Amino acid sequence: METIRASIIGFGAVGQGVAKVLLQKANYLKDIGIDLRVIAIVDSKGADIDTEGIDLSAALSRKRTDGRVGPNNITGLEVIRTIDHDLMIETTPTNIETGGVGLENMLAAFENGRDVVTSNKGPLALKYRELAEASRISGSTFRFEATVGGAMPIINLITDVLAGNNIISIEGILNGTCNYILTRMMDERASYEQMLAEAQELGIAETDPTYDVEGIDAACKLVILANAIFGMDATYKDVEVTGITKITPESLILAEDGGYVIKLICEVKKDLIRVAPKLVPNGHPLAVGGTLNVASVQTDLAGTVTITGRGAGSIETASAILSDIISIYRK
Ligand SMILES: NC(=O)c1ccc[n+]([C@@H]2O[C@H](COP(=O)([O-])OP(=O)(O)OC[C@H]3O[C@@H](n4cnc5c(N)ncnc54)[C@H](OP(=O)(O)O)[C@@H]3O)[C@@H](O)[C@H]2O)c1
Repeated sequence: METIRASIIGFGAVGQGVAKVLLQKANYLKDIGIDLRVIAIVDSKGADIDTEGIDLSAALSRKRTDGRVGPNNITGLEVIRTIDHDLMIETTPTNIETGGVGLENMLAAFENGRDVVTSNKGPLALKYRELAEASRISGSTFRFEATVGGAMPIINLITDVLAGNNIISIEGILNGTCNYILTRMMDERASYEQMLAEAQELGIAETDPTYDVEGIDAACKLVILANAIFGMDATYKDVEVTGITKITPESLILAEDGGYVIKLICEVKKDLIRVAPKLVPNGHPLAVGGTLNVASVQTDLAGTVTITGRGAGSIETASAILSDIISIYRK
């Protein structure tokens, strides 16, 4: 059985979700020939290192009780550069202005011949081409299912399951916060401001919701699809974006009277990358409610294939990371 040595850089909701899922699926992974050992975990305050394999239960409980994963004063970059391992799991906070520490970590991982699996969309929404090229040059594998749609397996569906199909277009809802606000505005006949406040109270929207409600988060995810699936060389700044802040309860009621709902729809096809509110007929596969994400893929052979799923959540996002890891190392 092949032993895979991995680091987890970033140990918040998703990083800890990955540790839990690796614990839960350890026997299954061994059954399919993957002996995965986490040799380093890094958060913003320090690191835990054990080249024989970290006890993940102990790391999770230390993080819970001490607020930090370990005593070592070593950064993610130093781990990536100096400790021999096969796979870097990158789950630090996203930064869409510069790519942030995630971009540096991914580039360093490729320079050192490490495979990368990530949930961090910022670096890919800004520098997809550079990252893909760095991974190609190093011969490392780069997988990022969790960056788009959380647990909803849109990238692997297209690249693996629908392999051989020409992809004509992808349309979908890629931001659960906006979908929640729009669904609740419709249910309650309430204003955008009221339902944003409710979403913030429930922890569905952030204190500063700008990236979500202005459509920028959705644009980042869409541009990753544009680059990865359509071979474009775009950044999120190339996406035509309209958010949901100007939608009124009156417009939603008018839509309802005509048999429609209003949804923040992401759309990519040749020569078009757009995020904008659109009328969707009631009962249409894209008319999903709550925080759900959905994507319809139009293909030349398979027709239209639609998937829906949870776009966020610690374990849900870790599920996408696990499936990427399995895809790389399953023999
Ligand atoms: N949460 C979701 O449902 C979800 C879904 C899809 C994608 N994502 C993406 O996944 C990534 C992680 O999300 P999250 O929700 O887990 O975020 P989070 O809870 O804020 O966790 C971020 C982690 O990164 C650590 N960190 C910050 N700066 C660091 C640095 N310079 N070096 C090493 N570690 C550092 C933090 O350390 P401390 O613990 O010390 O603060 C924390 O452990 C983000 O890019 C996010 O956009 C999240």
